[in-house]
Amino acid sequence: MTKAESSHLASQKLIDQLDQERLPQHIAIIMDGNGRWAQKRFLPRVAGHRAGIKSVEAAVTICRKIGIRALTLYSFSIENWNRPKAEVDTLMQLLEEYIHKELARMKRENIRCNVIGRLEDLPVSVQKAVEKVIRETRDNEAMVLTLALSYGSRTEITQAVKGICQDLLKGNIALEEIDEDLFGQYLNTSGLPEPDLLIRTSGEFRISNFLLWQIAYTELYFTRKLWPDFQENDLLLALLDYQKRERRFGLTGQQLASREIR
Ligand code: IPE
Ligand code: IPE
Ligand code: MG
Repeated sequence: MTKAESSHLASQKLIDQLDQERLPQHIAIIMDGNGRWAQKRFLPRVAGHRAGIKSVEAAVTICRKIGIRALTLYSFSIENWNRPKAEVDTLMQLLEEYIHKELARMKRENIRCNVIGRLEDLPVSVQKAVEKVIRETRDNEAMVLTLALSYGSRTEITQAVKGICQDLLKGNIALEEIDEDLFGQYLNTSGLPEPDLLIRTSGEFRISNFLLWQIAYTELYFTRKLWPDFQENDLLLALLDYQKRERRFGLTGQQLASREIR
C-alpha cells in the first residue's frame, strides 16, 4: 500500500468514528508554526508559508467532505504587518496566488468565500482578488470559508463600538436595544455562528487577538504540530477530541443529562 493509500484508509477509519449528530458547525483555526517548520529544515521562513498552503487545502477538503458548515482561518493578523517587509510581501503574494487557484475549487464544491479584517490594508491586487472570489462564490451554500486577513479582534470590537455609537447618535437605534445579539451584528463575523471549536497549532497556548468576543464558549484545542505538518487526520483527531467534551454553558452535568433524556 502506498503512503497516500494508507493515510486515506486511516482517515476513513477516523471519519467512521465521528458522531455525525455532534459535528461542530463552525471550526476556527489559528494556523501557526510555518516559520519554525522552515527553520527546522534550514529553509527560509517563506518556504514554511508555502508549505502551509497545502495544509489549508487539506483542512478545506476534509471540512467540506464531512459536512462542516463554516471554517475560519486566521491567515494574517494586524500585528503581522510588523514582520520584515520581504516576508509580508511574500505572504501577500502567496495569498493572491491561493485565492486565484482556489476560486475554481470553491465554485466546483459550492463553497462561499468570506473575509474578515481590514481589507483596506491589503495591496490593491489582493483586494481585487478577494472581492472577485467573494462575488463569484456568494451564492454557494455548502460551506462558508472565512479568511481572517489583516484581522485583529480588538480592532474589530472597537469598530463595532464606533458603529453602535454612530447609529445611536443618528437615532437609528435606542440605548435599550443594545444587547449581546445587537453587538454581534456590528462585528465582522455578523451572520456566522460562533465557533464551536478553535484549533491552534505549533504548541503555543494563546489566542493572539483572534475572535475574542466570539470564542466565549468555544472549545479550545491546542496541538504541538506545526501548521505545515497538520494534515486531514490531525483535524479529524481534533474533532474526535471535541466530541468527547461536555459543553455545559454554565449548567451542571446533571442538568445536561436530564435535558438529554427529555
Ligand atoms: C503562521 O506561522 C503564519 C502567519 C502568522 C502568517 P508563523 O509565521 O507565525 O510561524 P512561526 O510561529 O514563526 O513558527
Ligand atoms: C497568529 O500567529 C496569527 C496567525 C496565525 C495569522 P502569530 O505567530 O502571529 O502569533 P504570536 O505572535 O505567536 O502570538
Ligand atoms: Mg507564529
